[in-house]
Amino acid sequence: MTPPPLATRETAREARFAGVWTQDLKDVFADVAPYYDRANVIATLGLLGWLERRFMGTVAVHPNERVLDVCAGTNAIGIALLKREPALAVHAIDRSAEMQAVGRARARRLGLSIASIIGDVHTLPFPDDHFDLVTLQFASRHLRVRRVFAEIHRVLKPGGRFHHCDMLRPASRGVEALYYAYLRPCLAMTAFAFGSGRAALNCKRYFIDALQMFYSAEELSAVLVELGFEHVGAQTVLAGTVAFHRAAKSHRA
Ligand SMILES: C[S@@+](CC[C@H](N)C(=O)[O-])C[C@H]1O[C@@H](n2cnc3c(N)ncnc32)[C@H](O)[C@@H]1O
Repeated sequence: MTPPPLATRETAREARFAGVWTQDLKDVFADVAPYYDRANVIATLGLLGWLERRFMGTVAVHPNERVLDVCAGTNAIGIALLKREPALAVHAIDRSAEMQAVGRARARRLGLSIASIIGDVHTLPFPDDHFDLVTLQFASRHLRVRRVFAEIHRVLKPGGRFHHCDMLRPASRGVEALYYAYLRPCLAMTAFAFGSGRAALNCKRYFIDALQMFYSAEELSAVLVELGFEHVGAQTVLAGTVAFHRAAKSHRA
């Protein structure tokens, strides 16, 4: 399937997926929260840890910085950042109380402190120019990307950095076909292995559809530039199926 042109992609994504985004995904993440981390290790064939280390390797942190992890889920990113630099003030926002409950317990077990906010990330409940660093991993396919990225730009301090990691639509059609051929049975097998509930089973098809309508790494860079970010760069791994983007808010903003 060829996705609509970049100029209308966001409207097309919203028209197609608004219902799933608003309700179905809430039920999915409430359902999968207790086994989300283990399921991801299996779905990525054990590569999750490697992917997160590669992503974290692109992020610089400095003592006393204020950090926001958007769609924090079970706090994988906040925990990884605090292990590297304990003198960070890390905030996590996610609308799933269930995912954050798992994340809070994970952080507590490690003696780490992450401020947790339950809320929808399309409106970030923070003042302008507030954070030194914002991260967002594995969630943009489920979001009105332009609106959330504009919010991230607003809450970043001038000169603040944004780091993004997600599964993207591969630029190569051949890789794309192989990728979906792998994902279909993989999603079915993971759902079966963990006894997923109705919400997650109903969304198996959505996960592939959302990828097909999503951005390639190059397109996502273009969106960041359009929204006013500077120093935009991307690194793709796993044949272009995952990308790490970095961008900064202008010092003049
Ligand atoms: C696939 S998980 C990723 C979690 C985490 N970032 C990670 O890397 O493991 C996607 C997360 O996005 C959250 N999410 C989806 N839509 C959201 C929204 N509109 N507002 C806040 N959180 C949202 C879900 O609740 C879920 O925790």
